[in-house]
This record gives sequence, C-alpha cells and structure tokens, in this order.
Amino acid sequence: MISKSQKENLLNQRAKVLWFTGLSGSGKSTIALGLEEKLFNLGYITKVLDGDNVRTGVNNNLGFSLSDRKENIRRIAEVSKLFCQAGIICINSFISPTIETRTLAKAIIANKNFIEIFIDTPLKICEKRDVKGLYKKARSGELKGFTGIDSPYEIPMQPDLHIRTENRSVQECVDECYREIISIISLT
Ligand code: ADX
Repeated sequence: MISKSQKENLLNQRAKVLWFTGLSGSGKSTIALGLEEKLFNLGYITKVLDGDNVRTGVNNNLGFSLSDRKENIRRIAEVSKLFCQAGIICINSFISPTIETRTLAKAIIANKNFIEIFIDTPLKICEKRDVKGLYKKARSGELKGFTGIDSPYEIPMQPDLHIRTENRSVQECVDECYREIISIISLT
C-alpha cells in the first residue's frame, strides 16, 4: 500500500478538503475556481467539485428535498475523501444548507482534513444578481423549496474561514482564501 503521506510527498502538498458553503449565487464556485487557478499556477494539484460536475453525473438522481440534499452531501464527502487519500486537494462548492449535512461531511472526511469556508453574501445581493433566474422563479412560486426563500440556510457557527463578498472583487476574495489556507496545504 502506498500511503497518503507518500503521495503528498510526491505531489509536495498536504491534501485537504476545502468545503465552500453559502447561498445559491453567493459566488462559491467562482471563488473556488479562482483559487484553483491560483494554486495550479503555484504547482498544487486540486479538484473542484460543484453542482455542475456532480449533480449532472454521480448525483443525477437527486433533487432538492432536504433528504436528497443530505444524500448529495454524503456522496460528495465520500468522493472527496477518496481524492484526499490520493493526495489531491479537493475544493467543494455546495450550498450544503444545514449544520447537520456539514457535520456529516466533516465526520466522513475527518475533522483534521475538513476546512469549512463560509462564502457570506447577503441574500438580497444573491437575489439581485440572480445569475440563473432561479430566485425570480422561487419568488413567483414556480420553483418550490429554494434555499433562502422557502428552504432553510443555516449559517456556519464557527467556520474555519469566513469570506464576506459584499463590495469586494472576486480576486480579493480569492486572495483572502489563499492567504488563509496556504500554510495548511503546504508541506514545508
Ligand atoms: S445542496 O443544497 O444540495 O448543497 P447544491 O450546491 O448541490 O445544493 O446545488 C445548488 C444549485 O442547484 C444552485 O446553485 C442552483 O443553481 C440549483 N438549484 C436548483 N433548485 C434549487 C433549489 N430548490 N434550491 C437551491 N438550489 C437549487
């Protein structure tokens, strides 16, 4: 068996799961991809998991009931644990709306490898941006059970990192993330 630390040594990095949580439209995936690019340019190997590549594939049989969301998060946590064991830094971008689901993810991944990053964008801003037009549909009642409208979002009580995006550029948010996590993923 080749161990996790042998793989980390080969890749010259410490494998962790960076878990981004926040409302739909809060900027989670944009910041996650920006962070990935920055890390890639510095020689770190990462994998971004988000709704686009998980809900269309491994989780394409799941919807947005609270039980489906929990199953969504459970499978994502299991997949990221595998990436982590392979020495790869996993950057996850999911609403993961409840404390229960995030606690489950942390338990699966292991406390020491789970870094919770709260992408804090006020609902009014997410709704104003409404990139996918989903808030409008949720307000009109066309879309039921939308996070922040008629389905809960429980803010993290003690996130490892709390990124406030209001009045800040994507790059500023990426840079703040980077500054906070670089020592955690560096071997030396
Ligand atoms: S989670 O709650 O299970 O963690 P996930 O992050 O995978 O959610 O997916 C959220 C994305 O799915 C949103 O950004 C949005 O584009 C889309 N979506 C579709 N229906 C809903 C809904 N009812 N609530 C929230 N997001 C939804």
